[in-house]
Amino acid sequence: MFGIKYPIICGAMMWLCKPKLCAAISNAGGMGNLTAGNYSTENEFRDAIVLTRKLTDKPFMVNVTILPSVHITPEHHKMFLRVCVEEKGGGLEKLIPLIAGGKIKAAWESGNVDTAPMMMGQSVRFKGYSHV
Ligand SMILES: Cc1cc2nc3c(=O)[nH]c(=O)nc-3n(C[C@H](O)[C@H](O)[C@H](O)COP(=O)(O)O)c2cc1C
Repeated sequence: MFGIKYPIICGAMMWLCKPKLCAAISNAGGMGNLTAGNYSTENEFRDAIVLTRKLTDKPFMVNVTILPSVHITPEHHKMFLRVCVEEKGGGLEKLIPLIAGGKIKAAWESGNVDTAPMMMGQSVRFKGYSHV
């Protein structure tokens, strides 16, 4: 589904999931994770995507956490999503069609079995989203 060699997906991790680790995992055949919460400005976040792309030509994922945080505001969520779309060559108005159309593949990550059914409910609400 994601075009990776091994079905091994790196969980999102603040402080750790930055370009070097992300690209190393993708280069090894898994799914590297670039965790957006590591970046507080648009430039930092965009630079991290660009650097990861320089370090690997394999697929990698970007985690945008929806957990409340004093560091990550709703404005950050919008910015993270907008930058992801722009880096895929689209404009903000194309966000939902891009995701629903599969150009950006979205997956919900659940840290435990209790929240997994809620995540799966979300994927049903957003037709076209995938869940793992
Ligand atoms: C240091 C650390 C940072 C994390 N940061 C994030 C994060 O930014 N976003 C997120 O969705 N999950 C984050 N998580 C949660 C993990 O991705 C994962 O869901 C969680 O650790 C449960 O998996 P595990 O049982 O294999 O540890 C973090 C976990 C750790 C240990």
